[in-house]
Amino acid sequence: MRTQVAIVGAGPAGLLLSHLLHLRGIDSVVLERRSETYVQERVRAGLLEQGTTDLLREAGVGAGLDREGIVHEGLRLCFDRTMHRIPLTELTGKNVTVYGQQKVVRDLIAARRADGGAVHFEVDDVAVSGIEEDSPVLRATIDGRQVEIACDFVAGCDGFHGICRDRIPARHARTYEHTYPFGWLGILAEVAPSTDELIYAFHDNGFALHSLRSAEVSRLYLQVDPEEPIENWPDERIWSELQTRLGTDDGFALREGPIIDKSITPVRSFVAEPMQYGRLFLAGDAAHIVPPTGAKGLNLAVADVKVLAEAFDDWYARGHRQALDSYSDTCLRRVWRAQDFSYWMTSMLHRMPGDSGAQARMQLSRLRYVAESPAAARSLAENYVGYTPG
Ligand code: FAD
Ligand code: DHB
Repeated sequence: MRTQVAIVGAGPAGLLLSHLLHLRGIDSVVLERRSETYVQERVRAGLLEQGTTDLLREAGVGAGLDREGIVHEGLRLCFDRTMHRIPLTELTGKNVTVYGQQKVVRDLIAARRADGGAVHFEVDDVAVSGIEEDSPVLRATIDGRQVEIACDFVAGCDGFHGICRDRIPARHARTYEHTYPFGWLGILAEVAPSTDELIYAFHDNGFALHSLRSAEVSRLYLQVDPEEPIENWPDERIWSELQTRLGTDDGFALREGPIIDKSITPVRSFVAEPMQYGRLFLAGDAAHIVPPTGAKGLNLAVADVKVLAEAFDDWYARGHRQALDSYSDTCLRRVWRAQDFSYWMTSMLHRMPGDSGAQARMQLSRLRYVAESPAAARSLAENYVGYTPG
């Protein structure tokens, strides 16, 4: 088998890259370890920057977004038992959209299928070789058969636990990692959202976030001890903790309902530099992880593959390799901006284990400053809606 770009991973990065390449007449094959159902049902991100929704629409995969996406023009910070609104659109001219990552993945798989794209699920033993030469080869087991795929380039879109990143020899690579001393417990609940805008709450017991997926489904998160097993979090304890952390004196009431999904995710920052080696290009979580507080992970994955698709186009259509050569530097500028913003949001909103109280007082001071100062609010808003470094 032969293709131009072999893509490992059918998450948002791999699927969108395959679709964008197709629009430019470039052939690709996507290899995914998990089943199609698993990939489509995995509950994860939900907040899309305007740059992401603009790109999905331009690429012809915006019908679901137009139908089911919920546009938000502001967010709320909850502290001192009071809600404080940050008017994102008034401050930046841009908005954000709530549209589950599952739906993005569903739309992209449908588009690839409609265009006759090659997306293989339940693929085992993917191995990458030849990236130092100009003739990379992917070996894998597809439907029980050993397959070899010769290609011009490999796109490693296989997430944080994938195999591609390790193909970059240690002497050429540098990684930066920080694991926070807390995790996020996320739930999906069959109950109408209690808010029309996302609420980020700072409380003595820890951080909480109220998001949503539709008029009938709410998505909520709690800062938790990452060592504590999920069995210690029966539904009653989750709701009780959410009630406490989202409690206000200004009339907000949190509605409860059946929890249909729950999981705990570690909170970490990670960057692998460079994002390219020989004929291998990393994109999305394979190259970087941000703490989820800034809602940047999926948006960064989309930003990477936009740059990568354009760079491949420059190579195939015009024979230029400049954009491919600068791919890593271009992406890393945005990645580090998002790292800094996500770290800033995380450290403003989470209770730090072991804090004597000084840290919490500074956090509260920062929250009050952001709520009071238009300059501070604008800085938060500019980053939250998606900032493209010059
Ligand atoms: P992934 O989605 O991880 O896809 C990688 C794919 O590669 C997977 O399907 C995997 O099965 C496959 N794979 C791995 N290894 C192999 C192999 N050896 N062979 C073949 N296939 C392989 N981001 C936001 O922007 N906004 C948010 O609101 C937000 N909230 C989040 C909330 C939570 C609780 C979590 C966990 C994440 C959140 N994120 C958010 C982050 C976002 O979900 C990720 O950044 C996004 O999934 C990255 O997409 P990706 O395609 O790079 O990687
Ligand atoms: C969601 C997740 C986030 O990490 C965030 O900051 C906002 C929204 C969500 O899943 O809806």
